[in-house]
Amino acid sequence: MPIENSRIGGLYKLSVSDRRKLLAELGDLSPEQVDAWASSGELDEESADRMIENVVGTYSLPIGVATNFVIDGSHYAIPFVLEEPSVVAAASNMAKRCLGNGGFTSDNDDPVMIGQIQVVNCEDPEGARSSVIAAKEDLVSSCNEVDPILVKFGGGCRDIEARVIQTGSGPMVIVHILVDCRDAMGANAVNTMAETIAPKIESITGGTVILRIISNLAVHRLARVSAVFSPVEMSDSGDDAERGAQVIDGVIQAYHFAEADPFRATTHNKGIMNAISAVAIACGQDWRAIESGAHSYASHDRTYGSLTKWSKDEEGNLVGSIELPMAVGLVGGAVRVHPAAQANVALLGVESADELSKVMAAAGLAQNLGALRALATVGIQAGHMKLHVRNMAVTAGAVGEEVDIVASRLRERGGRITQAAVIEALEELRGE
Ligand code: MEV
Repeated sequence: MPIENSRIGGLYKLSVSDRRKLLAELGDLSPEQVDAWASSGELDEESADRMIENVVGTYSLPIGVATNFVIDGSHYAIPFVLEEPSVVAAASNMAKRCLGNGGFTSDNDDPVMIGQIQVVNCEDPEGARSSVIAAKEDLVSSCNEVDPILVKFGGGCRDIEARVIQTGSGPMVIVHILVDCRDAMGANAVNTMAETIAPKIESITGGTVILRIISNLAVHRLARVSAVFSPVEMSDSGDDAERGAQVIDGVIQAYHFAEADPFRATTHNKGIMNAISAVAIACGQDWRAIESGAHSYASHDRTYGSLTKWSKDEEGNLVGSIELPMAVGLVGGAVRVHPAAQANVALLGVESADELSKVMAAAGLAQNLGALRALATVGIQAGHMKLHVRNMAVTAGAVGEEVDIVASRLRERGGRITQAAVIEALEELRGE
């Protein structure tokens, strides 16, 4: 179950352990799950050693929680794992601004992944392609015999597609198996099905099967989320419709820049993935699969462009939407073995891969708006440096209380925050 209310005012003012306590209560987390957030409960060496090869240790990153997210009427506190300041704050801030219009709304596809089977050396590639299509029914049932549990849970192979492509090694028949993976990310189920039906494909086509592997361009498993932001909500003061309308125009111009220019679109989408990858990591997902699917989808059938769309409705409200492949799972993978990933999923309260997908897409949409809004107004550095200054103080050698004192002196002083200014403030504090 998601939490009752994601509008958690003043979370940033609490100590790390008080935040843990508060969120544990809201999310109804077990003591073990709360402990998993603290360094004492991290991934232990034994589990780490089972996850990959040649393990020498583990690597920590902060878990921060974004607030104010309402998606399809439910409240979510969203865990992010990343090193970059401003991301969690910006997502929470933007999520708040669409609450007046009901928050985010989702419209996801079914969780259908693609498995690819590469067939070479066909004497008549077009004829082989037609034979595969003619054998569709038999191939679908062969796939489904491989994974009766998936079928029992309402998933399984749904369809078979085939096409001929021209390559540097000559023509190839590429067969796609379309598999509804339900709550799994799907790589295991899809790869096993592809490997199992490969001999059948060889006898149908008369060719030789080489690769049998999932495609991360999951065009049948798209997450779609949208939200509406009024001019008043888009203004700094929260009550200046005129200023808000200017901000909205700036956001739309920034979006059009990304749509027209791949150099900008790449950075624009990087900002979206700041949130999506951070939630993916927090929840034990294969974030590389999600990243590659997202960027590939951004240039699927067109020049590389934005994963989001921004426009104005008749009342002058800003309307945003996001659409991208979202291959996530709650069964199997790191989410089953990593204690912090389990705690993060428990805090989210998501009960299906579909629910996790919409949370991640909403986080990406909010993140994109945060970046565009800042870029189209004061620029990104002001907010970024305000939050980054503590890291800069540590880099300058500040320890203990010095970190916060140096940071707040620089913030109060205003103006540009440079590493030289941070060193000077630290020296001043120490009377050097
Ligand atoms: C920085 O991590 C992300 C941004 O560059 C995204 C963008 O430019 O839209 C701010």
